Amino acid sequence: MHEFIFKDNELYCENVRVADIARRVPTPFYLYSYKTLVDHYRKIKVAFDSIRPLVCFSVKSNSNIAVLRALVKNGAGLDIVSGGELYRARLTGVDPKRIVYAGVGKRRDEIEDAIRFGILFFNVESEDELEEIQKCAEKFNKKVNIAVRINPDVVPKTHAHITTGKGDTKFGLDFQTVHKIFNSKRMYPNLNIRGVHIHIGSQVLDGAPFEDAIKKVLEFLKRYKIDVDYFNIGGGLGIIYSIENPQTAKSFAKRILPMLKKSRLKIILEPGRFISGNSGILVTKVLYTKITPRNTFVIVDSGMSDLIRPSLYTAYHKIVPVMLRQDSSQAPEKVEVVGPMCESGDFLGKDRFLPLMHKGDLLAVMGAGAYGFTMSSNYNSRPRAAEAMVIKNKVYIVRSQETYKDLVRGESIPKVLKREH
Ligand code: LLP
Repeated sequence: MHEFIFKDNELYCENVRVADIARRVPTPFYLYSYKTLVDHYRKIKVAFDSIRPLVCFSVKSNSNIAVLRALVKNGAGLDIVSGGELYRARLTGVDPKRIVYAGVGKRRDEIEDAIRFGILFFNVESEDELEEIQKCAEKFNKKVNIAVRINPDVVPKTHAHITTGKGDTKFGLDFQTVHKIFNSKRMYPNLNIRGVHIHIGSQVLDGAPFEDAIKKVLEFLKRYKIDVDYFNIGGGLGIIYSIENPQTAKSFAKRILPMLKKSRLKIILEPGRFISGNSGILVTKVLYTKITPRNTFVIVDSGMSDLIRPSLYTAYHKIVPVMLRQDSSQAPEKVEVVGPMCESGDFLGKDRFLPLMHKGDLLAVMGAGAYGFTMSSNYNSRPRAAEAMVIKNKVYIVRSQETYKDLVRGESIPKVLKREH
């Protein structure tokens, strides 16, 4: 459930008309519902309440500091993957002991910043990285907590680009190497190896691969009598974009809770999309319609630079008119909703059935709250979109639309090029 609903043929975010917001905020813009964000966070929290898990929202799915603050204020921790995300996390007032840090390529300066801030632990993805963190910890004369990310080699049945728990990906370590690490703890005197971590993939609709992976890890820990405090089971819960039928937080919990309870480990979850995906939409304006002998194109003021998921993964996002015309007697037509960029791959939706669109009409791209703004770019020198949030029926601009000046910030023309000859 989310708070983007039609009332009297008009799209609302909570109790605010999206069309009214578009009068205040220039299109294209992302729009988030605070209530949906918090509701989705609570769904997970409540489903796992009996084991009091730490739910660390995955910042990469939506890193706007207002979104992060909304979740932190309601009790969430944060899952980060870079110094930039750590910087954002710090602006939210999150307790450092509720931050976990994953990623295969952590730089030394990033590691040092995270140690200084006192995060809960690093999810370590290679032996080289262990050595690097050991060196940093030694330099600070500190004991640093880490969890080893295990690659459980399961098939999560999702898009190849977002599969992470298969043996042939760059993520985590195989069981044999993990075993070796636990046996050579003394090589890392400044590290406390306190946990294990998995993350098998994203938009995973079925609970079975999660169950397989968790089972494999727990059996491994038991078999080799490996003693840890934490088991971070990652994120990856799939959501509804169109006709998917994903497990609910409740059914997911029901499936794995018995195993987790028995293990007596402290459990961490890292959901991103589950919390933010359906908490946001992208609002865009129709610039032109163009009828060619083969297609009808609806050309809008947003495209792959704002939301790259359709182009990158042929991901489906529902597209709806923000206002359904009373007079639209015409049957919906098959159209391509495309952006202004100079690429054939620049589309938001193909083969969509929409009523006749006119210049200036608004469209909403649904389910755009996760991996929307965070994957946006300035391609074709297009300023990044604004972001707004409805909180208790009031609209707040939480990021203004970029300006042309923002586009060239940090760039300069060397003097030698300024001379005419
Ligand atoms: N934990 C780790 C270690 C991750 O790598 C990820 C996502 C998550 C948690 C959160 O996963 P989620 O709950 O959001 O599925 N750009 C792609 C998704 C990439 C996911 C990367 N890792 C997309 O637009 O579908």
